[in-house]
Amino acid sequence: MSDLLLELSQNPLFQQVVRQLGVPLPMPERLRRGKGPWPAQPLADAPIVVFTGGRLDAALAGALTSAGASPLVVTPAEPHPAWRQAGEAWARPPRVFGPTENPPDGQRTHALVFDGTSLETPTALRGLYDAFHPWLPTLGRGGRVLVLGRDPAESELTPARAATATALEGFVRSLAKEVGRRGATAHAIMVPGGAEGRVGPLVRFLLSDRASFLTGQPWGLSTLTPEPHSVPVVQSLERKLALVTGAARGIGEAIAHALAAEGAHVLCLDRPGEETPLAHVAQAVGGEPVTLDITAADAAQALHALLRRQGRPLDVLVHNAGITRDKTLARMSHEAWDQAVAVNLGAVVSLTDALLDEGLADNARVVCLSSVSGLAGNVGQTNYAASKAGVVGYVRALAPRVAARGITVNAVAPGFIETRLTAAMPVATREVARRLSALGQGGEPRDIADLVCFLASPGASGLTGRSMRACGGMFIGA
Ligand code: NAI
Repeated sequence: MSDLLLELSQNPLFQQVVRQLGVPLPMPERLRRGKGPWPAQPLADAPIVVFTGGRLDAALAGALTSAGASPLVVTPAEPHPAWRQAGEAWARPPRVFGPTENPPDGQRTHALVFDGTSLETPTALRGLYDAFHPWLPTLGRGGRVLVLGRDPAESELTPARAATATALEGFVRSLAKEVGRRGATAHAIMVPGGAEGRVGPLVRFLLSDRASFLTGQPWGLSTLTPEPHSVPVVQSLERKLALVTGAARGIGEAIAHALAAEGAHVLCLDRPGEETPLAHVAQAVGGEPVTLDITAADAAQALHALLRRQGRPLDVLVHNAGITRDKTLARMSHEAWDQAVAVNLGAVVSLTDALLDEGLADNARVVCLSSVSGLAGNVGQTNYAASKAGVVGYVRALAPRVAARGITVNAVAPGFIETRLTAAMPVATREVARRLSALGQGGEPRDIADLVCFLASPGASGLTGRSMRACGGMFIGA
């Protein structure tokens, strides 16, 4: 489904006409999106400003320089030795700036990264203003803002420190809305003590062109699962066995492609009647088609039999299959209620529970599709929103129970994504849904697929029990 305003807004003539007419039409920026397998250096030559002063110098220096970035380090004192060491190892020596020094004339930057892990009081929040005020104008189109802080839920933090850490969330949610029309995004990463080693892969992902449609939310890291000894950055799913439900089209198809591009063998599952598109997808990704109704009474047995034939358990399980059966509650049939809840939540719970012991490998990754509707609610979607909110509760409750085995369980909540589901909406509703977001446009299936693929990777060991929005900063919802 093409987005006419997005197409037109790339046209200089159209921009000029709109300016001359004085029409207050916000122009969305075309997002830069990566394609194919993830590169070794996703930030090659990208100028990235780091405001230091927290306890993440080593994590950030390693993550940024190994990803190819050129760091500009803003620091009140001598830069931490990690910057010089990482700079030498990757031939990326840092350029150092004092905190009151202005950016050089003409300087453009790809990202502004603020290490706020040592902020203790509300007064110290002034550091955000002092850092971003002079440097924000250097942020290029499609740029990134990252603010890292302590996890406000950590019991060792005083209430004042927890308040200060939580303030960072509000800061990035607002900044995401300010920079969104330039195709730029903003995130907070909450880093509890001991999770420093989990920061790198998430920073690398959020600053890359695989995270262009993600913005305006906190990413809470945890130390629940054991930290992996090594984290491959390319072909990170090599030799992994993955199962994607609802893989015949739309978001599921994109997820199957993304996982296969990273080296996974993908079992592509869809319901009876979808054999033809499913076979195409399975063939295109070098995987196998699996025809199964996930709500069938014997679905769990069928999956066990499938895995016995594969001779190994799953490393990646993606519950993507989903349906809408929209009607306001007063007009909704009980069949519509039952179907939405059975596919979107019932099957997710019963199949995951059935696979836990023998069907999931240690260090496996489970990713479930929720929805922004499940977080915010939506007219005509009581059944759908109940089921998608249930998914949020399920991943939150299951994560600590399986963490000792290294298994993570997360949900992804898409906003408006350009698929046949949203193409069927009335034009006006579709237009409003697209524009009511910080980035002023809908997402593409591959935006969801890239996030699922990151959550499925070994580098995402610090994220579990979370529900992450992939919505371009939609103005509705928590
Ligand atoms: P889609 O309708 O294009 O694809 C869903 C697939 O699931 C279909 O191939 C369908 O045959 C399969 N499926 C449905 N019931 C099944 C069953 N009982 N057993 C096996 N397979 C079954 O949907 P789309 O847009 O790709 O959505 C994928 C997921 O993302 C869903 O869970 C949806 O709720 C969620 N989502 C989508 C959004 C969007 O804007 N497209 C927004 C928010 C969430």
